[in-house]
Amino acid sequence: MPDDPQRSALPFPDPELTDGTVLLRPWQEQDTPQRYAAFSDELCQRFSWAGIEPITEAEVAAATVQNERDRLAGTSLNLAVADPADRARVWGAASVYDVDPGQSRASIGYWVAPWSRGRGVATRSLRLLAGWGFGALGVHRLELTCDPDNLASARVAEHCGFVREGRLRSHIRFKDGRRDTLVFSLLPGELR
Ligand SMILES: CC(C)(COP(=O)(O)OP(=O)(O)OC[C@H]1O[C@@H](n2cnc3c(N)ncnc32)[C@H](O)[C@@H]1OP(=O)(O)O)[C@@H](O)C(=O)NCCC(=O)NCCS
Repeated sequence: MPDDPQRSALPFPDPELTDGTVLLRPWQEQDTPQRYAAFSDELCQRFSWAGIEPITEAEVAAATVQNERDRLAGTSLNLAVADPADRARVWGAASVYDVDPGQSRASIGYWVAPWSRGRGVATRSLRLLAGWGFGALGVHRLELTCDPDNLASARVAEHCGFVREGRLRSHIRFKDGRRDTLVFSLLPGELR
Protein backbone atom coordinates (compact mmCIF):
# COMPACT_ATOMS: atom_id res chain seq x y z
CA MET A 1 0.00 0.00 0.00
CA PRO A 2 1.42 3.44 -0.81
CA ASP A 3 2.54 5.68 2.06
CA ASP A 4 -0.43 7.48 3.52
CA PRO A 5 0.21 10.66 5.53
CA GLN A 6 -2.90 9.85 7.59
CA ARG A 7 -1.53 6.45 8.60
CA SER A 8 -0.37 5.95 12.18
CA ALA A 9 0.07 3.00 14.54
CA LEU A 10 -3.17 1.21 15.35
CA PRO A 11 -4.01 1.25 19.06
CA PHE A 12 -4.93 -1.89 20.97
CA PRO A 13 -8.60 -1.61 21.96
CA ASP A 14 -8.78 0.07 25.36
CA PRO A 15 -10.59 -1.23 27.31
CA GLU A 16 -10.11 -4.71 25.87
CA LEU A 17 -12.99 -5.96 23.75
CA THR A 18 -15.18 -8.46 25.57
CA ASP A 19 -18.84 -9.37 25.79
CA GLY A 20 -18.24 -11.60 28.81
CA THR A 21 -18.17 -14.72 26.62
CA VAL A 22 -15.16 -13.96 24.40
CA LEU A 23 -12.16 -11.70 25.03
CA LEU A 24 -10.00 -10.11 22.32
CA ARG A 25 -6.47 -9.42 23.51
CA PRO A 26 -2.95 -8.95 22.07
CA TRP A 27 -1.06 -12.05 20.96
CA GLN A 28 1.83 -13.06 23.19
CA GLU A 29 4.92 -15.13 22.43
CA GLN A 30 3.72 -17.83 24.82
CA ASP A 31 0.55 -18.32 22.72
CA THR A 32 2.63 -19.88 19.90
CA PRO A 33 1.97 -23.59 20.72
CA GLN A 34 -1.81 -23.01 20.96
CA ARG A 35 -1.87 -20.72 17.92
CA TYR A 36 0.02 -23.36 15.95
CA ALA A 37 -2.16 -26.25 17.17
CA ALA A 38 -5.30 -24.29 16.27
CA PHE A 39 -4.22 -22.89 12.93
CA SER A 40 -2.64 -26.10 11.64
CA ASP A 41 -6.03 -27.83 11.71
CA GLU A 42 -7.55 -28.94 8.43
CA LEU A 43 -10.23 -26.22 8.06
CA CYS A 44 -7.90 -23.33 8.87
CA GLN A 45 -5.34 -24.70 6.42
CA ARG A 46 -8.05 -25.12 3.79
CA PHE A 47 -9.65 -21.70 4.09
CA SER A 48 -7.21 -19.32 5.82
CA TRP A 49 -3.80 -20.41 4.55
CA ALA A 50 -2.88 -19.88 0.90
CA GLY A 51 0.37 -21.86 1.14
CA ILE A 52 0.80 -25.28 -0.45
CA GLU A 53 2.84 -26.68 2.44
CA PRO A 54 1.16 -26.76 5.88
CA ILE A 55 2.15 -23.90 8.17
CA THR A 56 5.02 -24.58 10.59
CA GLU A 57 5.35 -23.58 14.23
CA ALA A 58 8.26 -21.28 13.26
CA GLU A 59 5.97 -19.45 10.79
CA VAL A 60 3.37 -19.03 13.51
CA ALA A 61 5.99 -17.56 15.87
CA ALA A 62 7.14 -15.21 13.09
CA ALA A 63 3.52 -14.17 12.48
CA THR A 64 3.24 -12.94 16.07
CA VAL A 65 6.31 -10.72 15.56
CA GLN A 66 4.99 -9.52 12.19
CA ASN A 67 1.56 -8.76 13.70
CA GLU A 68 3.15 -6.19 16.01
CA ARG A 69 5.16 -4.65 13.14
CA ASP A 70 1.96 -4.33 11.09
CA ARG A 71 0.13 -2.75 14.02
CA LEU A 72 2.89 -0.18 14.45
CA ALA A 73 2.86 0.47 10.69
CA GLY A 74 -0.90 1.08 10.91
CA THR A 75 -1.84 -1.57 8.35
CA SER A 76 -3.45 -4.28 10.48
CA LEU A 77 -4.37 -5.35 13.97
CA ASN A 78 -4.49 -9.07 14.71
CA LEU A 79 -5.88 -10.08 18.10
CA ALA A 80 -6.13 -13.38 19.94
CA VAL A 81 -9.63 -14.48 20.85
CA ALA A 82 -9.40 -15.93 24.34
CA ASP A 83 -11.51 -17.32 27.16
CA PRO A 84 -12.42 -14.37 29.44
CA ALA A 85 -12.32 -16.75 32.43
CA ASP A 86 -8.77 -17.85 31.54
CA ARG A 87 -7.13 -15.33 29.22
CA ALA A 88 -4.21 -17.68 28.52
CA ARG A 89 -6.56 -20.07 26.72
CA VAL A 90 -6.69 -19.27 22.99
CA TRP A 91 -9.94 -19.86 21.10
CA GLY A 92 -9.11 -18.15 17.82
CA ALA A 93 -8.16 -14.90 16.13
CA ALA A 94 -9.82 -11.79 14.77
CA SER A 95 -8.16 -9.09 12.72
CA VAL A 96 -8.67 -5.86 10.85
CA TYR A 97 -6.29 -5.59 7.91
CA ASP A 98 -5.74 -3.59 4.73
CA VAL A 99 -6.57 -0.56 6.85
CA ASP A 100 -6.92 2.41 4.52
CA PRO A 101 -7.28 5.65 6.51
CA GLY A 102 -7.48 7.73 3.33
CA GLN A 103 -10.64 5.90 2.28
CA SER A 104 -11.85 5.18 5.86
CA ARG A 105 -12.02 1.51 4.96
CA ALA A 106 -10.66 -1.79 6.31
CA SER A 107 -11.03 -5.53 5.89
CA ILE A 108 -11.86 -7.89 8.72
CA GLY A 109 -11.27 -11.60 9.27
CA TYR A 110 -11.22 -14.43 11.81
CA TRP A 111 -10.57 -18.09 12.47
CA VAL A 112 -11.54 -20.27 15.40
CA ALA A 113 -9.70 -23.24 16.92
CA PRO A 114 -11.36 -26.62 16.27
CA TRP A 115 -11.91 -27.02 20.02
CA SER A 116 -13.96 -23.80 20.20
CA ARG A 117 -16.16 -23.96 17.09
CA GLY A 118 -19.92 -24.14 16.85
CA ARG A 119 -20.79 -21.98 19.85
CA GLY A 120 -20.74 -18.47 18.46
CA VAL A 121 -17.08 -17.56 19.09
CA ALA A 122 -16.51 -16.23 15.55
CA THR A 123 -19.81 -14.34 15.46
CA ARG A 124 -19.19 -12.71 18.85
CA SER A 125 -15.59 -11.81 17.97
CA LEU A 126 -16.57 -10.34 14.60
CA ARG A 127 -19.32 -8.28 16.23
CA LEU A 128 -16.92 -6.86 18.84
CA LEU A 129 -14.14 -6.04 16.38
CA ALA A 130 -16.48 -4.58 13.76
CA GLY A 131 -18.01 -2.29 16.43
CA TRP A 132 -14.52 -1.15 17.39
CA GLY A 133 -13.67 -0.57 13.73
CA PHE A 134 -16.60 1.79 13.25
CA GLY A 135 -16.01 3.47 16.63
CA ALA A 136 -12.33 3.78 17.56
CA LEU A 137 -10.99 3.37 14.03
CA GLY A 138 -13.69 5.48 12.41
CA VAL A 139 -14.01 3.41 9.23
CA HIS A 140 -17.06 3.79 7.01
CA ARG A 141 -16.83 0.40 5.33
CA LEU A 142 -15.68 -3.01 6.53
CA GLU A 143 -14.99 -5.62 3.92
CA LEU A 144 -15.01 -9.37 4.51
CA THR A 145 -14.01 -12.03 2.00
CA CYS A 146 -14.21 -15.81 1.98
CA ASP A 147 -13.96 -18.89 -0.18
CA PRO A 148 -17.36 -19.57 -1.82
CA ASP A 149 -17.24 -23.07 -0.25
CA ASN A 150 -16.78 -21.65 3.24
CA LEU A 151 -20.42 -21.80 4.28
CA ALA A 152 -19.68 -21.40 8.00
CA SER A 153 -17.73 -18.18 7.42
CA ALA A 154 -20.45 -16.73 5.19
CA ARG A 155 -22.97 -17.55 7.91
CA VAL A 156 -20.87 -15.74 10.53
CA ALA A 157 -20.69 -12.66 8.28
CA GLU A 158 -24.44 -12.65 7.68
CA HIS A 159 -25.18 -13.14 11.40
CA CYS A 160 -23.41 -9.81 12.02
CA GLY A 161 -25.28 -8.01 9.24
CA PHE A 162 -22.68 -8.15 6.45
CA VAL A 163 -24.23 -7.87 3.00
CA ARG A 164 -23.04 -10.17 0.23
CA GLU A 165 -21.94 -8.01 -2.71
CA GLY A 166 -20.77 -10.58 -5.17
CA ARG A 167 -18.31 -13.18 -6.33
CA LEU A 168 -14.92 -12.18 -7.70
CA ARG A 169 -13.83 -14.79 -10.21
CA SER A 170 -10.25 -16.10 -10.15
CA HIS A 171 -9.55 -13.44 -7.53
CA ILE A 172 -6.44 -14.68 -5.72
CA ARG A 173 -3.57 -17.15 -5.96
CA PHE A 174 -4.44 -19.94 -3.55
CA LYS A 175 -2.53 -23.19 -2.90
CA ASP A 176 -1.32 -24.31 -6.33
CA GLY A 177 -4.03 -22.54 -8.32
CA ARG A 178 -6.43 -19.62 -8.20
CA ARG A 179 -9.59 -19.10 -6.20
CA ASP A 180 -12.88 -17.23 -6.49
CA THR A 181 -13.80 -14.96 -3.57
CA LEU A 182 -17.12 -13.94 -2.06
CA VAL A 183 -17.16 -10.28 -0.98
CA PHE A 184 -19.29 -8.97 1.87
CA SER A 185 -19.42 -5.49 3.36
CA LEU A 186 -20.79 -3.82 6.44
CA LEU A 187 -21.56 -0.11 6.80
CA PRO A 188 -22.10 1.87 10.02
CA GLY A 189 -25.57 1.18 11.41
CA GLU A 190 -25.80 -2.29 9.85
CA LEU A 191 -23.97 -4.23 12.62
CA ARG A 192 -26.19 -6.83 14.32
C1 LIG B 1 -15.64 -20.21 9.97
C2 LIG B 1 -15.33 -20.30 11.45
C3 LIG B 1 -14.46 -19.11 11.84
C4 LIG B 1 -16.61 -20.31 12.25
O1 LIG B 1 -16.29 -20.24 13.64
P1 LIG B 1 -17.39 -20.61 14.76
O2 LIG B 1 -16.97 -20.00 16.04
O3 LIG B 1 -17.65 -22.07 14.74
O4 LIG B 1 -18.65 -19.83 14.18
P2 LIG B 1 -20.04 -19.54 14.91
O5 LIG B 1 -20.29 -20.61 15.94
O6 LIG B 1 -20.05 -18.13 15.37
O7 LIG B 1 -21.08 -19.65 13.69
C5 LIG B 1 -20.90 -20.63 12.69
C6 LIG B 1 -22.17 -20.71 11.88
O8 LIG B 1 -21.89 -21.48 10.71
C7 LIG B 1 -22.72 -22.62 10.67
N1 LIG B 1 -21.94 -23.70 10.08
C8 LIG B 1 -20.90 -24.37 10.60
N2 LIG B 1 -20.45 -25.26 9.71
C9 LIG B 1 -21.22 -25.13 8.61
C10 LIG B 1 -21.26 -25.78 7.34
N3 LIG B 1 -20.39 -26.73 7.03
N4 LIG B 1 -22.22 -25.39 6.46
C11 LIG B 1 -23.11 -24.42 6.75
N5 LIG B 1 -23.10 -23.75 7.94
C12 LIG B 1 -22.18 -24.12 8.85
C13 LIG B 1 -23.08 -22.88 12.13
O9 LIG B 1 -24.25 -23.67 12.23
C14 LIG B 1 -23.28 -21.44 12.61
O10 LIG B 1 -24.50 -20.90 12.15
P3 LIG B 1 -25.81 -20.87 13.09
O11 LIG B 1 -25.43 -20.06 14.31
O12 LIG B 1 -26.83 -20.20 12.26
O13 LIG B 1 -26.13 -22.29 13.44
C15 LIG B 1 -14.55 -21.61 11.79
O14 LIG B 1 -15.26 -22.72 11.27
C16 LIG B 1 -13.14 -21.63 11.24
O15 LIG B 1 -12.22 -21.17 11.89
N6 LIG B 1 -12.94 -22.20 10.05
C17 LIG B 1 -11.62 -22.32 9.44
C18 LIG B 1 -10.97 -20.99 9.13
C19 LIG B 1 -11.90 -20.07 8.39
O16 LIG B 1 -12.73 -20.51 7.62
N7 LIG B 1 -11.78 -18.76 8.64
C20 LIG B 1 -12.57 -17.77 7.92
C21 LIG B 1 -11.93 -17.46 6.63
S1 LIG B 1 -12.91 -16.36 5.68
